[in-house]
Formats: sequence, structure tokens, C-alpha cells
Amino acid sequence: MSIRHCHVDNVVCRVGNSRLVFNLVKGDHLDKKITAYGNGSSEVKPVPSLCTEYLGLALKSPLLVGASPLTRDTSFVRRLENAGIGAIVMHSLFEEDMPREPIDAFAPPVTNEDFPEHSWTRPNQQEHPGTYLETLAYIKSIIAIPVIASLNCRTLEGWVQLARRVADHGADALELNIFLMAMNPEQTSAETERQLLETARRVRDAVKIPLAIKLNPYLSSLPNMVYQLERVGINGVVLFNRFFQLGPATTIEREMFRTSSPHRADLAMRLDWLAVLSPWTKLSLAITGGIHGSTDVVRAIMAGADVAQMTTSLLENGPDYAQPVLAEIAMWLQNHNIGSINELRDVANMATVAEPQNTVRREYRNAIAAAAMRFTAEHRY
Ligand SMILES: Cc1cc2nc3c(=O)[nH]c(=O)nc-3n(C[C@H](O)[C@H](O)[C@H](O)COP(=O)(O)O)c2cc1C
Repeated sequence: MSIRHCHVDNVVCRVGNSRLVFNLVKGDHLDKKITAYGNGSSEVKPVPSLCTEYLGLALKSPLLVGASPLTRDTSFVRRLENAGIGAIVMHSLFEEDMPREPIDAFAPPVTNEDFPEHSWTRPNQQEHPGTYLETLAYIKSIIAIPVIASLNCRTLEGWVQLARRVADHGADALELNIFLMAMNPEQTSAETERQLLETARRVRDAVKIPLAIKLNPYLSSLPNMVYQLERVGINGVVLFNRFFQLGPATTIEREMFRTSSPHRADLAMRLDWLAVLSPWTKLSLAITGGIHGSTDVVRAIMAGADVAQMTTSLLENGPDYAQPVLAEIAMWLQNHNIGSINELRDVANMATVAEPQNTVRREYRNAIAAAAMRFTAEHRY
């Protein structure tokens, strides 16, 4: 099989004598492709490998559960592992929930009864670090796949203290959910980025476990930030955090904390950035936001992601939903004689685009011209 890059929206794969063209913009679906290109032969094909690596951790699949209340219930965690999830990202521990008293004086061990199904819809639910750390240690004791803790702090001291504690409680890696959004007109982008880097640097100095930074898309030069994070010894970035959207949300939406939507725009923006970053960065790349099915995972990996995190779809469909998603990916690879998911990585990134800025500009103009023609054709009398 050979795969060659055309453009982030179009991928051409050669499998045997078949030439497969994926139009990622039109959103080709894997199941359709399987029907269209499966050769129908009864030949037994080897089972493709979904194994991959992220933050230096060996994973059995590239599908991760993103930080969410799913990890508050340890029975969900077992089901996620059984469904084939590669690693678990725990919900975030917030510094505001840190008690004044010594942490160890806190909280009985967490039980499933403490967090009945859908308990994430309860407002003002808080958690002590003691509880979080015990949950982390317990999850580590019941599953074999890597567990990535997640922190969201306000002060450098909080970041450092809690990072040390999650590392001591057995986290395989740590995701820093850094909530930094400039809202004050006097704050420069340089100041915001300095804060972000300083946080990364301090946590890097404090712990040895692999670190990923969950970035937001509101940075003025994302490539430069990624480059600088690499220099301070961060191991990976997660694209992108989605902050709670306060604007148009109704009260009910806020209570449900439904930050996500299946809109294609969520995914498209993240795929673009993966395609831009992956040709040159050595950091592990994870995508979060808009991953709802097997096609999304494959597109993310083609654009350069090492792993794809899924949250809303697992919350809505339940932890077992990971199993059919992974089965579809494996079936698709098998039908195309692709032995490993890793063969798909980067085939649709910008590595072979000679002048990315000019190419992106040209395609932007083409897209506008095509839309204008479509509009005229549809509305002409
Ligand atoms: C109910 C809910 C709770 C979440 N909790 C966290 C959290 O604790 N920490 C965090 O970094 N992200 C959290 N997120 C964000 C998700 O990890 C993810 O980045 C986001 O939902 C986009 O992915 P999706 O489109 O697959 O939902 C949460 C999302 C949802 C829907």
C-alpha cells in the first residue's frame, strides 16, 4: 500500500490496484468506503494493529476518553478499558477545591454510590483533592491502561503542589488544563503566553511524569507556543480546550454543562492546526473536540494526531460506545490492507506543501469562489 499526501482535505491512498480518494471536506464516511472499496474476497486478512504511542506511553489504541465525569465512576472506567480505550484522562482537579487543612485529613474513599449515573449534571459539585487522589490511586489499581490525571489551578504554588501529589499517587502522565483567556484590554498576548509558559516550566521542574498541555485556540501564534513548550520539556499538547460558553447558553444548557456539539467546524479547525504543527514538532499531539466516530479518529490521525480524545459522544452513548468505533477503524484498515493505524499518521498534514501560506490563501479564495458559484446556481431563476 502506498499513501501520498495531496492536501489536508484530499488524501489519496493506493491499495493494491485501487486508488482511494478521500475528500475530507465532504466528509466521506468510513462505512461507505468499506462498501465501495472492499474487494469482497474471502481471503483472511491479518488483524490490523491499533497500538500507538502517546507522551512516551505505549497504548493499545489511539482512542482516549477526554477529561470528563466518566472517570468519577469507577465502573465506567472498567467498561472503557474493556471497550478498547487506549488511556483514560481523568476529570480535572480544580485548585479552588483544595482544602485549607492538610490534604490527608480528608474525605472517605470514593464509591460508585457517591456518583450515580449522570451526576455530572448536579450544579456546584465539588471535590477534595483527597478524594481525587484516592480515586486516581483506585483507578490505577483496577485497570492496566495508562491513567492521565488532569489539573486546573490558579496559582503557581497550586500547580506545583497538586502536580506532585498526582504524580505521587501513580498518575502515568498529567494533562494541564490551563484556563487562560485574555479579557482585559491592558493584558498583552505576550503576558498571557508568558503565564502559560511559566506554569509549564514550574510543573516540569516539579515532576518527572510526562506532561501534556491542553491548549485553547485563542493564542496569537500557536506554532510559536508549541515550539516554546517543546523547549521547556513538555511532552505533548492537546488541541483544543473548549471553555464553557457563557454567551448564548440557556440556564438548562449551563446546568447540563453541554459544552460540546457535533458541528463539523469544531473538528475542521483542529484538523487544520494538526496539519500545520505535525510536520515539525516532536511533541505528542492529541485532539479533543468534535471526535464523534471512527471517521473523525482516522481523519485526526491522517492530519498528524497521535491520539484522539472523545468526550461528548461517550457521555451521550455510554462508555461501551468506544468498542464499535474501534471495531470500525480496524475493519476499515483491514479492508484496505493497512497493517497498522500508525501507517496513516501524517498522510494529510502540510509536510509536502511547499508554501503553506500561499496554498492556504489560494484554497481560501477557491472556497469562496466555489461558494459564490453554488449560491448563484441555486438562486438563479
Ligand atoms: C460534561 C463535561 C465535563 C468536562 N470536564 C472537563 C474537565 O474536568 N477537564 C477538562 O480539561 N475538560 C473537561 N471537559 C472538556 C472535554 O475534555 C473535551 O475537551 C471537550 O468536551 C471537547 O471534546 P468533545 O467534542 O469530544 O466533547 C468536559 C466536557 C464535558 C462535556
